[in-house]
Amino acid sequence: MKEIRLGVNIDHVATLRNARGGTHPDPIRAAKIAEVAGADGITVHLREDRRHIRDEDVKNIIKETIIPVNLELAGNQQMIEIACALEPNAVCIVPENRQEVTTEGGLSVFGQENRLAPFIEKLKRKKIKVSLFIDPKVQEIEAAVNIGADIVEFHTGRYCDAEEHNKYKELTFLVQAANVANNYGIEVHAGHGLNFNNVVQISKIKQIKELNIGHFIIGEAIFLGLKTTIQEMRRIISHARNTA
Ligand code: PXP
Repeated sequence: MKEIRLGVNIDHVATLRNARGGTHPDPIRAAKIAEVAGADGITVHLREDRRHIRDEDVKNIIKETIIPVNLELAGNQQMIEIACALEPNAVCIVPENRQEVTTEGGLSVFGQENRLAPFIEKLKRKKIKVSLFIDPKVQEIEAAVNIGADIVEFHTGRYCDAEEHNKYKELTFLVQAANVANNYGIEVHAGHGLNFNNVVQISKIKQIKELNIGHFIIGEAIFLGLKTTIQEMRRIISHARNTA
């Protein structure tokens, strides 16, 4: 078994498709290539404004791929009902703001336990694993544990964007948070802003079981091809994990 799973986020194949309003490039084709290339899962973010992935895409990706599908969406009644109907393997609840270019920070679970707990319960009743996308903070991890989440996914954006002199500090937050989460027995994932370089230190954090990577992979695929890019990412993260 692979020690660290790679979830490939294919949202931006749909971004490109939607730019022309047609059917090319097809996210389902991308999902199938990712599967062949060694991805352990497909991740898609069904945004409320449907700016990239659409409901029909999610349905078809679930139907036409064998590897697990991780569906990211906002934590509200309407989106949770959509998730329950689509029945992906996992749902990752993310904060969402219509104006943002991408998911800018982690979900505030602390203080919102009463609002989020029923959504988690509903998804789990459907046998869908529930992940919460949070900043690597003890308070957020404890809140996620308290309301029964299966997984916490740490937002790695601050680490990826940090200036060189702050990188170590941001990495330390991730290392410590991964330790805390692991001690609570909750599964740890990570993602956002990862590329061939910055993924190395993140892959060395042994408590992290899965990385979800999108924008860089799809962008780099323009130059290397999707299959080669995924294979190279797979090689880098496995090598980093095995030499940690
Ligand atoms: N994980 C989550 C929960 C996300 O929302 C995103 C971005 O949609 C990613 C991972 C992937 O981030 P990136 O596209 O920067 O690799």
